[in-house]
Amino acid sequence: MYRTHNCGELNINDINKKVLLSGWVQNIRKFSKYYFIDLRDFYGITQLFINKKYIFFKIKNEYIIKVKGIVNERIKKNLLLSTGKIEVKVNKINLINKSKRLPFNIENKPKVSKIIRLKYRYLDIRRHDIKYNLIFKSLIINKIRNFFLKNKFLDLETPFLVKSTPEGAREFIIPSRNYKGFFYSLPQSPQIFKQLLMIGGIDKYFQIVKCFRDEDLRKDRQPEFLQLDIEMSFINKSKYIINIIEKLIKYLVKNFYNQKIINFKIIKYNKAIKYYNTDKPDLTNKIYKININKKNIINKKYNNYNILSFILPNFLNIKSVKIKDIINIINIKIKKLFIIYNKNNKNNKFFKNNNIIKKIIKKYFFSEYDILIILLHNKKNLNCNKRLNKINKLLLNSKYKKNILIPIWIINYPLFKYDIKNNKYYSFHHPFTSPKITNKLSYKSLSKAYDLIINGIEIGSGSIRINNKKLQKKVFYLLNLNKKDIKHNFDYFLNALDYGTPPHGGIGIGIDRLILLLLNKQDITDIIPFPKNYYNKDIMLNSPSKINDKILFKLGIKI
Ligand code: AMO
Repeated sequence: MYRTHNCGELNINDINKKVLLSGWVQNIRKFSKYYFIDLRDFYGITQLFINKKYIFFKIKNEYIIKVKGIVNERIKKNLLLSTGKIEVKVNKINLINKSKRLPFNIENKPKVSKIIRLKYRYLDIRRHDIKYNLIFKSLIINKIRNFFLKNKFLDLETPFLVKSTPEGAREFIIPSRNYKGFFYSLPQSPQIFKQLLMIGGIDKYFQIVKCFRDEDLRKDRQPEFLQLDIEMSFINKSKYIINIIEKLIKYLVKNFYNQKIINFKIIKYNKAIKYYNTDKPDLTNKIYKININKKNIINKKYNNYNILSFILPNFLNIKSVKIKDIINIINIKIKKLFIIYNKNNKNNKFFKNNNIIKKIIKKYFFSEYDILIILLHNKKNLNCNKRLNKINKLLLNSKYKKNILIPIWIINYPLFKYDIKNNKYYSFHHPFTSPKITNKLSYKSLSKAYDLIINGIEIGSGSIRINNKKLQKKVFYLLNLNKKDIKHNFDYFLNALDYGTPPHGGIGIGIDRLILLLLNKQDITDIIPFPKNYYNKDIMLNSPSKINDKILFKLGIKI
């Protein structure tokens, strides 16, 4: 028997109990006759108090030991530790296993590079913050799974060895040993399979599934990542998917995020581009300009001035930047300054009436922490963008902590996008996305896609799908796929569409990204047990690696 208790559970109620503990030696403090040892396991740390006479071997950090002893009340209590009021007075100690000297200490901020941490990832996982992230992730995934099971979704698996598709430049390819010169590919997502499940009569499907993409990595991207994949039958509007995802996210935020979330907003794609110059707006701190209609202004003499007006989203949460810092950056002679708050906006002396302000707030404000600044000035040809960019930088570098989630659904995307470099049209999302108007398909069509953006990060993406073979073929043609390619790659799918395909739609949510948000973190490698580095390498395995010629020959890759 290794233990009666774990290292995180003993407390003042256990005084005088005889216990057995096992764990790693975190820290040793030696005195003339006694040792104090912090013993660590998955659950926590317990202080051991040992008379030297019981120690018959040299104890070092990260050795695994087993101790027998009695729980005592501590004289010097450590209130930061759940076990900080007690210690175990040891009367027997065994060495279970030795450890080499570690490349870094198991502490909160190890003094080594990320590369070393990734090389010894199994040691990195011993550190509290990585371990905590993984525990949190496991908990969230369980909650998500229960949420969908409760809502009568079926949890089904789809294959990993699938078929390569045209445009699949980002697929990982697997050679087949039985069929030399032939290949499987790893799925970038279970997209077609979940649609086939709907054709198979499965009403509501979900899966928490690995997806594989050979793309350039960033802080929020990995070549293999977890997706919450969902599909529902007999829906032809985004609202069904939007509703269930909002319910899920609100539930997770309420229970596992100690900050605020504001109500979800829906913005059309072209509006997002017009106002924020991106379809992934981060409204937690990104400034944006708005134009004010002069007929709404109370005082005619203001019309003689130029107006610069912009929203500072979430500004009231940013303690380290003041209005005067913003004015300093604008750096022009200001004739008048007006600030419009979400609340207390009465008595402003700029707009004709309060209804106009209310309309502006409804249209442009996201939370009660946003403000609108209106500056009247005389300067001609003011370079606004340069100034607003500078303000943005200041806000980004400010010490302010993001303590709010601002979720936005972007809808009304174009169905296609044109790539000038390759002189080619691509699907804005994927080729199975339904156009808004099905009988007038063109390169100008809008789609029934919807993306979920939270704090500027794309958390999810989905759409209502095409459920008609003719339309699906037309989309393939507009994507310039020739008949041969279509037959080779999608024959089975087009066939399936012919057998009574229900209207259906779904979404894929990036679970790693969602967890990053809930944890207020940025680096996806901190929440994946064994991640790749930013150069797509597994530093611990030293993979990808070369493969022996004999094996390549057997696989038919080398002749
Ligand atoms: P999409 O390709 O947009 O859609 O992916 C869905 C969500 O998955 C997350 N994601 C990633 N997370 C980490 N690393 C990556 N490399 C990565 N790539 C994507 C994002 C993204 O929003 N089949 C469709 C979904 C559908 O239409 O139902 C799909 O996969 O958060």
